[in-house]
Amino acid sequence: MEQTNKAFIDELNVRFKNAAPQELLSWVLTEYKGEIALSSSFSIEDQVLTDMICKIDPSTRIFTLDTGRLFPETYTLIEKTKQKYNIDIEIFFPNYTDVENMVNRHGINLFYKSVECRKLCCNVRKIEPLKRAFTGLKVWICGLRQEQSITRYGLKPIEWDGNNNLIKISPLAIWTEQDVWEYIRQNNVPYNELHDHGFPSIGCQPCTRAIKAGEDIRAGRWWWETPENKECGLHKRK
Ligand code: ADX
Ligand code: SF4
Repeated sequence: MEQTNKAFIDELNVRFKNAAPQELLSWVLTEYKGEIALSSSFSIEDQVLTDMICKIDPSTRIFTLDTGRLFPETYTLIEKTKQKYNIDIEIFFPNYTDVENMVNRHGINLFYKSVECRKLCCNVRKIEPLKRAFTGLKVWICGLRQEQSITRYGLKPIEWDGNNNLIKISPLAIWTEQDVWEYIRQNNVPYNELHDHGFPSIGCQPCTRAIKAGEDIRAGRWWWETPENKECGLHKRK
């Protein structure tokens, strides 16, 4: 797609530099209708985006990757969100043969054994299903923010995702955590109850723990690894 070159992306970032996330979403949802989806993990950011998207165009595709190892509270929120907005949310599961081969070879809790084993699990449970979820898409929307992690500094609201050949939109790229919570409270957006119990960032249950006062917001994700490893491969940037 010739439009997706660097100049096009740069131009969009200039155009939407001072725009509210809703302005960027309104444009992109219209321009790429039928070829765009929100990838939601039901994080506070994704819940804000779901609320904004449903107010603009509730027919927009929203999908989630159910790794099979999510928290019960996350499953509760999936249902609550569907009901509140009266929408469908597509659920993608990992390929069961891949999961069986992996756990029979490396163990059910292989992620604690090594970074390689952890990445293998993320590949099987997230990356492969994500590739299937991308079928027919030109644009994916996600809830990344710059301040979430050292691996996300410099993130732009619009980027070219060369790993997946898609335009990647992060409408909340420059929002602070406080901005996100203000929106949630003002708009009565449903959120994961684990946030009220010390979990600012929530992924799979065995790979997420609560954080202590003063710790980094992603300190509870893959807490046994060093910060530069703390990506599951969903958001490789090149
Ligand atoms: S992760 O790479 O560390 O797991 P994080 O939890 O910060 O990512 O989420 C960042 C964004 O990635 C989310 O806002 C969402 O767009 C996408 N994402 C992460 N996990 C999932 C999931 N299980 N299903 C769908 N999208 C996801
Ligand atoms: Fe597996 Fe943990 Fe990655 Fe979830 S976060 S896919 S359980 S390694």
